Amino acid sequence: MDDLKILTEIPDIKYHEAAPQITAEEFDKVVLSRRSVRVFTGEALEDKLVEHCLDLALLSPTSSNLQSWGFIRIVDPAVKKSFIPICLNQNACKTASELIVCISYLNRWKEMNQLMLKSFDEAVARGEEVPKIARTYYEKIVPLVYDQGPFGIKGLVKRVILFLRGLKTPSPREPKSHADMRVWAHKSTALACQTLMLALRAHGMDTCPMEGFDSKRAKKLLNLPDDQEITMILGVGKRAPKGIYGPRVRFDRNLFVRKI
Ligand SMILES: Cc1cc2nc3c(=O)[nH]c(=O)nc-3n(C[C@H](O)[C@H](O)[C@H](O)COP(=O)(O)O)c2cc1C
Repeated sequence: MDDLKILTEIPDIKYHEAAPQITAEEFDKVVLSRRSVRVFTGEALEDKLVEHCLDLALLSPTSSNLQSWGFIRIVDPAVKKSFIPICLNQNACKTASELIVCISYLNRWKEMNQLMLKSFDEAVARGEEVPKIARTYYEKIVPLVYDQGPFGIKGLVKRVILFLRGLKTPSPREPKSHADMRVWAHKSTALACQTLMLALRAHGMDTCPMEGFDSKRAKKLLNLPDDQEITMILGVGKRAPKGIYGPRVRFDRNLFVRKI
C-alpha cells in the first residue's frame, strides 16, 4: 500500500493551468435549458458540431483516466429505423435526428492502461518528465485494482485481504467483483453522457437520455460483445414545439442536499 503514494504525495512538477474566467450566467442557462426532449423536429444536425460535442464529452473525468467508454453515432436512416422498436417505439427515438449509443467497456481498462504507459514512454522520449509515482500507479496499482481474475478469483482474494486490512485502517474496497466493474465503467460513461448532453444543449441541440430500450437486441444490432454494455442511448435533435411534455419537476432540495 506504500504504492498509494500517488494519492498522498504532491509531485515536484512545474506544470500549471490557470482557471479561466467563465460567464457563469451562460453555464446556468445551459443547465437550466437542458430538458429531456421527447419530440424532435428531425432536421439535419451539423455534423461538425456533434463531433465537437463528442470531443467535449471525451474530456469528462474518468476513473483512473482509463477512458473505458465509447460512443456510436447512429446516423444511417436504416439503422436508426431499426432502433425504433428496440427503443420501445419511444418518440424520442422515432423523431430524433440521430441517436448516440453510449457504451461502457468492462475490460478495456487493460488496453487503456497500455496506452497510458505508452504515452509515458513517448513523453520521456520528448524529454518530458513523468513522475515515478504515476508510472508505478499504472504498472502496479491499476492491474491490482481492476483485474478480478478468472471467475472473479482475484476479486475474492482482494475482498478478504481488504476486509482484514480494513479492520484496522481505511482501505479501498471496490472494485472487487465483476459486478463492481460494471458499476465502475457505467459511472464514468454516465458522466460523459451528461457532458455530452450539456455540450449539445450549449450548441443549440437537445437530447433525451433513454434507458427504456431492449439491451439484448440493441447489443445484437451493434454486434457488441458481452463486456460492452450500453449505459444509455441519447436521442439527439432540435426540439419540436411540443417536445417538452411539461415544466420540470424536482422535489424539495432538502431531501437531497445536506451540510455536515
Ligand atoms: C438514465 C436515464 C434514463 C432515462 N430514460 C428515459 C427513457 O427511456 N425515456 C424517456 O422519455 N426519458 C428518459 N429519461 C429522462 C428522464 O425521465 C428525465 O431526465 C426526468 O424526467 C427529468 O426531466 P428533465 O431531464 O427534463 O429534467 C432518462 C433519464 C436518465 C438519466
